[in-house]
Amino acid sequence: MDLGLTGRRVLITDAPPGIGEGLARAFAEKGCDLHRVARAGDHLAALREALPAAHPAIAVTVQPLDLTETVAINAVMAAAGDVHILVNNAGAIANGNLADVDEARRPEGWELKIFGDINLRRATEARMKAHGGRSPDDGIRAVGVNRGPVDTDHFYAMLKQHAKSWLGDEARCGEFVERYPLKRPATVHEIADLGHFPASDRSADATGTIVTVDDGISSRHSIL
Ligand SMILES: NC(=O)c1ccc[n+]([C@@H]2O[C@H](COP(=O)([O-])OP(=O)(O)OC[C@H]3O[C@@H](n4cnc5c(N)ncnc54)[C@H](OP(=O)(O)O)[C@@H]3O)[C@@H](O)[C@H]2O)c1
Repeated sequence: MDLGLTGRRVLITDAPPGIGEGLARAFAEKGCDLHRVARAGDHLAALREALPAAHPAIAVTVQPLDLTETVAINAVMAAAGDVHILVNNAGAIANGNLADVDEARRPEGWELKIFGDINLRRATEARMKAHGGRSPDDGIRAVGVNRGPVDTDHFYAMLKQHAKSWLGDEARCGEFVERYPLKRPATVHEIADLGHFPASDRSADATGTIVTVDDGISSRHSIL
């Protein structure tokens, strides 16, 4: 299926491995240029070479940067160029309950997940708006992907932490997965397939909505 994505420039906040890497590969396969931002410069640099080698028509630029730094958003906008698609993927919410995530740890995740997301969307939309006007009157669409469990290192680290504190043994983390309606986390590939489709011309009518992919957990009220 031609998604009409060829030649689009995508800004993705991530470094491999993880969901952002799957999304980067999905967009690369569709002929998109990529600008990728995360702290792990070595991972980014390796992919700057690998993705164009597999997809010679695309250009990949990378920017090692902590998105919680005050200068970060301006630095990204200066380096990213004209962006057609923004994928706000970076996140590092601390695991644990109210006692575990005290006031000292709370900001480390929320600064990025909430304010980093808002600030980057505000800056990107302003640039997109310069090509037109006000979203959605000028063709700026926003679609969220509400993911449940996805089989990344991040997910298994969280699961092991829960297993250790609730079951006394991190090796029992698989018992949580057994409680999911489909008894599996989503794969990165599945999330990437779903995640890049809303950015395509074949999804031109979708905006202001959130797609939930969570193994059926929220519909069955069987949250972890
Ligand atoms: N896996 C799941 O089950 C699941 C479920 C629901 C939602 N999510 C969300 O999906 C996103 C990706 O998850 P994942 O499982 O792929 O986890 P991950 O591998 O830990 O991905 C998080 C990404 O955020 C980047 N990042 C973290 N802090 C940053 C900072 N201060 N500045 C710039 N980049 C930063 C990390 O790169 P660096 O460390 O190199 O900076 C990494 O590439 C996260 O937002 C996560 O909360 C995941």
